[in-house]
Amino acid sequence: MKVLIIGNGGREHAIAWKIAQSPKLKKLYVAPGNAGTEEIAENIDMAAKDQEAVVKFCKKESINLVVIGPEQPLVEGLVDRLAKEGVRAFGPSKYAAQLEGSKAFAKEIMKKLAIPTAEFSVFTDAELAMDYVAKKGTPIVVKVDGLAGGKGVVVATSMPKAMEAIHLSMVKKVFGKAGEKIVIEECLNGEEASVIAITDGETVKLLASSQDHKRIFEGDSGPNTGGMGAYSPAPVVTEALEKELLMRVFIPVVKELKEQGHPFKGFLYAGVMVTGDGFKVLEFNTRLGDPETQVILPRLENDFLELLLAAADGMLNTIKLEWKDRDCVCVVIASGGYPSDFEVGKKIAGLLTAKESADIAVFHAGTKRQDKDIVTAGGRVLGVVGLGRGMFEALSKTYNAVDKIFFDKMYYRKDIGHKVARIVK
Ligand code: AMP
Ligand code: GLY
Repeated sequence: MKVLIIGNGGREHAIAWKIAQSPKLKKLYVAPGNAGTEEIAENIDMAAKDQEAVVKFCKKESINLVVIGPEQPLVEGLVDRLAKEGVRAFGPSKYAAQLEGSKAFAKEIMKKLAIPTAEFSVFTDAELAMDYVAKKGTPIVVKVDGLAGGKGVVVATSMPKAMEAIHLSMVKKVFGKAGEKIVIEECLNGEEASVIAITDGETVKLLASSQDHKRIFEGDSGPNTGGMGAYSPAPVVTEALEKELLMRVFIPVVKELKEQGHPFKGFLYAGVMVTGDGFKVLEFNTRLGDPETQVILPRLENDFLELLLAAADGMLNTIKLEWKDRDCVCVVIASGGYPSDFEVGKKIAGLLTAKESADIAVFHAGTKRQDKDIVTAGGRVLGVVGLGRGMFEALSKTYNAVDKIFFDKMYYRKDIGHKVARIVK
């Protein structure tokens, strides 16, 4: 099998690492990839936006499967384009990807299917939105309808903050078209978790649960980031909750999209808030999470390529998912200053020593090769991942490996998994 992975983050390195273990694999490409994927695959300098180039490449190299990591190409219809050209790709169509690409679309489906979610209203007029907020009071949540790179949600604790969020999105249009429509919703309290399913449009199977750490500082404080760490499983997602999510969320959504004539094939990710009053779905993503993937895939026993092929071909019912009875942790090492300004081009030391143990993997995100060195090239630089018997062991192995890595101004949270195991280094 010849496989092309689209993307360049830690998630895509983890996908490449897992696919590379498959005996079915003949050749692996990642576009554009990073210094980590370069060690196990051939990086191709190609932008997913350039659908023409992707199609041409897939035909020239006789690619058997395209796996798309990030949301943008899905929302732009890359899967539809590839399908039209006879290239097999695993991921949702442009229509189905609206579950992530439009918060209003997702909320309307949840309402129709009576899926528990925050009470909401959709607005295309700033004044009406402001009147609504004035009436509802704070705290309140203002969400840009379209994709905003994780920056489109404001949990406003004061009236001026809520008004500012509406103004920035709808009047100043800082998110462009994506922010012309907004969703305003009730603020929920509870514990968040990520539950991701794989589906071929008919059969739905849940992957292991996980939880990420979105805030930059310890104790879940400071601004939001792309994710500073994760762990799997997430104890807050009990077996009973998994069953409930499958029956009340995933199966109904997949059935609904099939009935709408656009079956959902791909990974369907529900961000859930577990409240005192049961679960509520915060959002859908139509892909694997980052950094959730980095802690889910090391626990998966199955041949990942075989799983993806079965799902792409509508044969997911033939596969039984098997999970290692191990806990997994990912600690993200970022460039100092991230998510604001940071410097790049710092030489990274200790990468080989860090992954000496078979229970450790180091997934690259913002890295690139510069002559013989690997240097930093982004905000989130590496995800150090460790497996252990229980969260305590996974954490201590992972932080030991983190200690072996160094670059100038590196930053990481020392309390990943703090909610699960009370170990703080
Ligand atoms: P989303 O992209 O919708 O998941 O929102 C990003 C983050 O904002 C979530 O992970 C939550 O931490 C927070 N958030 C979103 N919606 C709500 C809500 N209704 N109440 C409280 N926090 C929320
Ligand atoms: N970790 C959150 C996401 O992938 O959207």
